[in-house]
Amino acid sequence: MLSFRNRIEKNDPEIIRQIAQSTGFFDDNDVQINVNIAENLLNQKDSNHKFLFADYMNKTVAYVCYGEIPDAKEGTYEIYWLSTLNEYRGLGIGRNLINKLITKLRKKGAHKIYLKTESKDLYAPTRKFYERCGFKLQAVLPGYYDDFDSCCIYALNLDERDSWGFYPEQYGAAE
Ligand SMILES: CC(C)(COP(=O)(O)OP(=O)(O)OC[C@H]1O[C@@H](n2cnc3c(N)ncnc32)[C@H](O)[C@@H]1OP(=O)(O)O)[C@@H](O)C(=O)NCCC(=O)NCCS
Repeated sequence: MLSFRNRIEKNDPEIIRQIAQSTGFFDDNDVQINVNIAENLLNQKDSNHKFLFADYMNKTVAYVCYGEIPDAKEGTYEIYWLSTLNEYRGLGIGRNLINKLITKLRKKGAHKIYLKTESKDLYAPTRKFYERCGFKLQAVLPGYYDDFDSCCIYALNLDERDSWGFYPEQYGAAE
């Protein structure tokens, strides 16, 4: 049974380290950025980032780190980091977590969620994942991460219904 929690707990920085490392997508610096955000939140030194965790049978198996973008229009959020523990990938947990986040943010009056991801081949499944979650590619910043690795900016417009009258997360709920 999958459950979700917002509250960050003492062991979460280490859990986040293990989940991020397990994916094989992030270098040590990226992993440490995730851990530092969690530690700063625990020490109440950060109010711009939040986490939503997915727990499966009392084990934390995925997390998303997000926040409201301070200099953008009110209700504009960004997903900063997202990972599912490697052996739990492809089971629908990431999709459920994003759906939960969308529902939560919509209740808070959010209008838009942005995220940045990479153009290199390693991230092709990640881009596919976001597209399946309803995000649309908005812009590409060439050479942002590396000479041949561009930044792909995706957005989900929470005010938009599709041509069937459904909001994006309702696809997830129907499956
Ligand atoms: C991206 C990530 C968070 C997705 O989480 P997940 O739990 O594996 O995703 P799900 O099982 O919920 O998959 C949801 C959808 O994405 C698609 N998807 C997931 N992994 C995929 C893959 N390897 N190839 C193609 N599609 C994939 C699934 O087909 C599924 O779509 P469907 O439900 O319509 O069939 C996870 O794979 C991950 O941690 N990846 C490495 C780190 C990463 O890229 N983080 C994001 C950085 S921007």
